[in-house]
Amino acid sequence: MPAAISSRSDLDRVRAPLATANGLPNAHYVDETTYEEEKQAVLFANWSGLATASDVPNSGDAIPLEFAGMPLLLIRDKSGDVRVFQNTCRHRGMILVSEPRNIEGAIRCPYHSWCYSTKGALVSTPHVGGPGQNTHDAIVREDLGLVEIKSHIWMDIVWINISGTAPDFDTVHADLLARWQEFDQPLFHGGAESIITLPLKANWKLAVENYCESYHLPWVSYD
Ligand code: FES
Repeated sequence: MPAAISSRSDLDRVRAPLATANGLPNAHYVDETTYEEEKQAVLFANWSGLATASDVPNSGDAIPLEFAGMPLLLIRDKSGDVRVFQNTCRHRGMILVSEPRNIEGAIRCPYHSWCYSTKGALVSTPHVGGPGQNTHDAIVREDLGLVEIKSHIWMDIVWINISGTAPDFDTVHADLLARWQEFDQPLFHGGAESIITLPLKANWKLAVENYCESYHLPWVSYD
């Protein structure tokens, strides 16, 4: 039987003064329903880090990514701007890009060949009105572009707001930006050599919490 979803009183204990506060209830680490609620309220409703802009250095570079179960496409468009789209076709939801590559022309759906520009516009719908008929009155291309995710780049990190309802990044993080102003310098990114990947079979908060405390460092070895 799944653990119970945290109650209001559980979170009151978390918000108590530091000396008497408790950690999050177990449900926040093991319960699927709690995870789904938290995903919407924390990860999707706010700004979350997705990747770095340097992951797509050239125009047309595209990388499929998954964020909390949602398939996304990180791409540098033909004007040089970094964008994030849902990596699903507006026709029948096919995954559009399944491995990192450079898009030379358009993003072509492998299922029925609808094509999208690197800025997300639907530009081609072959045979959609029957053989040789590439248009149909019911297919309004202007309404069927890729679904773009609100994004913002800071310190080369691509931040995304899935819900699209968060205030601007600069507004939400004004205090942080002021505090880190002196670090806002040009960054070096060495491509693949600059990346480490740490696959974790754990709730994401365990990794964050571990990173936030150094109490364990004298005793825990990483070899
Ligand atoms: S699912 Fe993409 S063109 Fe049909």
